[in-house]
Amino acid sequence: MSGAPGPLVQVRGLTLCAGTRVLQRALSFDIHPAEVLVIMGGSGCGKSTLLRHLVGLQVPAAGRICHRGVDLHRASADALVQLRRGFGVMFQAGALWSSMTVGENVMLPMEMFTSMSPRQRAERAQSHLADVGLADAFELDPAALSGGMRKRAAIARALALDPPLLFLDEPSAGLDPPTSAQLDALLLSLRERQGTSIVLVTHELDSIFAVADRALFLDSQTRTMLPPDAPQALRDHGPAVVRDFLRGRVGARPSPAPAAPDAARGAAP
Ligand SMILES: Nc1ncnc2c1ncn2[C@@H]1O[C@H](COP(=O)(O)OP(=O)(O)OP(=O)(O)O)[C@@H](O)[C@H]1O
Ligand SMILES: [Mg+2]
Repeated sequence: MSGAPGPLVQVRGLTLCAGTRVLQRALSFDIHPAEVLVIMGGSGCGKSTLLRHLVGLQVPAAGRICHRGVDLHRASADALVQLRRGFGVMFQAGALWSSMTVGENVMLPMEMFTSMSPRQRAERAQSHLADVGLADAFELDPAALSGGMRKRAAIARALALDPPLLFLDEPSAGLDPPTSAQLDALLLSLRERQGTSIVLVTHELDSIFAVADRALFLDSQTRTMLPPDAPQALRDHGPAVVRDFLRGRVGARPSPAPAAPDAARGAAP
């Protein structure tokens, strides 16, 4: 068959470590164009660590991650810059630069990566802030925002360049239910309007069912993933551990017992 777009990202045989401890191994999956892929699992199973690997901030202990066929950890510096231009990332801490206003934070990627004029940057930033419900925050210092507002400003910054691929780590944690639902709607509209692929780490069951095309469960007991599938299918027909998770029977919080300190035995070097 010709014409079908291939995966944006291919992950093959990935091992995630924290220090010498293996968190997850044998992770293999694709991220497709215009899909919302949720990464889920109990606290401490390695979701944020996986995200850091997917954006190239951590080097895999084993395995590889290819973006549009380019191996992220073997790419030239120039190729990496090109690849990174195509990502928007919001980390779990959602840190903003405290020395800049909210608007300046959102404009920063445009300054770094585009030749847009100051006026164009300001207009684009204002529009992204409005999208996340922060139309009036442009001139504010980050310190003047609530935790949930800071998070939304960090999402606006991740959207700054209208990236084809967006990575969001717990974007709705700390948001009230209506704001969280608004964020879900924004993500779906990005996917519809711009064909954005979104990798979303979340514990929120409502969000998972509202936005995920597929969900990937990282099992902290077996230390590997379950094959991604539609959340409804996993809830109704998946293995017990993910059925329970998606039915809210197993708390995503508090965390399951951490892996034993000797878990790294047999780990990749
Ligand atoms: N830089 C590091 N050095 C040592 N251990 C780390 C490091 N980063 C993460 N870890 C450990 O790796 C494990 C997984 O962390 P990670 O943040 O990926 O989990 P998570 O699934 O995102 O959890 P949560 O749902 O609480 O955000 C945790 O036990 C954590 O303490
Ligand atoms: Mg995390």
